[in-house]
Amino acid sequence: MPPSNQSLFRRKTIAAILQNPPADHDGHAPGGLERHLTVRDLTALGIAAIIGAGIFSTIGKASLDGGPAVSLLFVFTAVACAFSALCYAQFAATVPVSGSAYTYAYTSFGELAAWIIGWALIMEYAVGNIVVAISWSDYFTGLLDGVGLHIPTYLSTGTQTAYQGYHAVLDLMLANKPLTEASAAQLANYKLWNEAPLLFGDWHLVVDLPAFVITVLITALVYVGIKESKTASNILVLLKLIVVFVVIAVGAFYVQPANWTPFAPNGVGGVLKGVSAVFFAYIGFDAISTTAEECKNPQRDLPKAMMYALIICTVLYVIITLVLTGMVSYKELGVGDPLSFVFAKVGLSKLSGLVAVSAVFAMASVLLVFQLGQPRIWLTMSRDGLLPKVFSKVHPRFHTPSFSTIVTGFFVAVPALLLNMDLVVDLTSIGTLFAFALVCGGILIIDPYGRSEARFKVPYINGQFLVPLLLLVTAVLLFVYNREQMNDFFRLAAFGEGYEGFRHQIPMLVFLLFCGALAVLSFRKKLSLLPVLGLLINLYLMTQLGIANWTMFFIWLLLGLVIYFGYGYKHSKLGQAKREQLS
Ligand code: ALA
Repeated sequence: MPPSNQSLFRRKTIAAILQNPPADHDGHAPGGLERHLTVRDLTALGIAAIIGAGIFSTIGKASLDGGPAVSLLFVFTAVACAFSALCYAQFAATVPVSGSAYTYAYTSFGELAAWIIGWALIMEYAVGNIVVAISWSDYFTGLLDGVGLHIPTYLSTGTQTAYQGYHAVLDLMLANKPLTEASAAQLANYKLWNEAPLLFGDWHLVVDLPAFVITVLITALVYVGIKESKTASNILVLLKLIVVFVVIAVGAFYVQPANWTPFAPNGVGGVLKGVSAVFFAYIGFDAISTTAEECKNPQRDLPKAMMYALIICTVLYVIITLVLTGMVSYKELGVGDPLSFVFAKVGLSKLSGLVAVSAVFAMASVLLVFQLGQPRIWLTMSRDGLLPKVFSKVHPRFHTPSFSTIVTGFFVAVPALLLNMDLVVDLTSIGTLFAFALVCGGILIIDPYGRSEARFKVPYINGQFLVPLLLLVTAVLLFVYNREQMNDFFRLAAFGEGYEGFRHQIPMLVFLLFCGALAVLSFRKKLSLLPVLGLLINLYLMTQLGIANWTMFFIWLLLGLVIYFGYGYKHSKLGQAKREQLS
């Protein structure tokens, strides 16, 4: 690509990144980071970021929709993550500096894509943390209830959750339908909304105060520079693993195999409803790559650690799902604190309390990891000139990115007061899947034939025949085993029910076109199989997230593009350097 200061695809070269690590605005080089992390520390760090609200909370709703078969979804999603992890690992071995997927995209796709991925990472880190905060609040309030301290429900429920429940019931009333059609939660929220204190005349005061407070506290800690020392992180991981093992070991005695039948009560559709919740549970393994500058041997250790963390978590997740859905009927699992709920349900209230206490600590540690990570991504983007300088301002005494940390706190704490968890889980998952897809695509750009000299590279398997063949086999299997759904899809895609039906098929239609294009490209260019599969699986999972989420995601991207063209494009350091070169 010719160097052009106008190009949206201007790329940083890998050599330039490795030779000239970015300097802070106050002139300090970022060096000074000590290389002390080993494979074991990195694996622990991965588990610290991975095990959190996903397994402590969102697994409940996924099991309610999909039944015990959600355990298989955990395996499928882990495979998608493993392909992405391989690609992350090759990037981390090629560009062993902080900045994660944002930096990788800068070297492969160019500046615009780097901006977009940085923008999507905000969804992963900051929006993801909103979920963790809300889930933390569920466990915390449950815990307080257990010792007789009750926070009023209107101060521990998100505004949107209460409003949605209220509206669902109101709609039934207006349609003269029986209220038995409403769920217990909807009825409770209807009551809550009506009885909530009113502020400013008619503003119903229903907010999730604990979620807000924990975010403020964690942000304050991050602001004054708490160092996630490897000892602290290792202890927290140990705590999480102990809880998970206890749940499995004790829970196993209460499993009633009858609860596993039917295995997939709502069919494949029901299982796939859990995609974003299940995927959310894996988010975090990529966060290890942000520590590249602090690893003893990043090229060797990062790939191993990502894989170890993924394998350990997958095994635990699958067993936990089977235990939970075996202990009680999947129908009862639609709660925010399923891990402690099941023990209360079988009469082990002390153990239920213990699980809740541990969950509170475990989730606080996830909050901490991501609340630390987000400002550092903003800092990197600001150093590159894509965000205003103030975002890379470092506090003179605490040596932390002060402004970015406060913005992150605000960005997480306020929505945590108001929003409904399901919505935020979906947004986080769609943003992260998109980032993963771009990382897989990035490997296809920088190293399509596996010829890189990096210490770690994705094993090259020629995809010339395998990609088209695999796609063909998948299509045949779908037609044979999922005939009904396929017929539905084609009927709706052909405007069988007008635009309303068609609209929902758009993501899948675009995906199918993309599959066709990638099959042709793989055939002609002998592309590397594994990144292609990673790309396809991540995009497939994205198609399962529903058009409403896609719309919100596009609005988010559009907002990002407005900011990029309004600010980043003009102020980009790389752009300025290229301008100087040309003048
Ligand atoms: N995977 C992390 C969690 O489940 C984000 O909380």
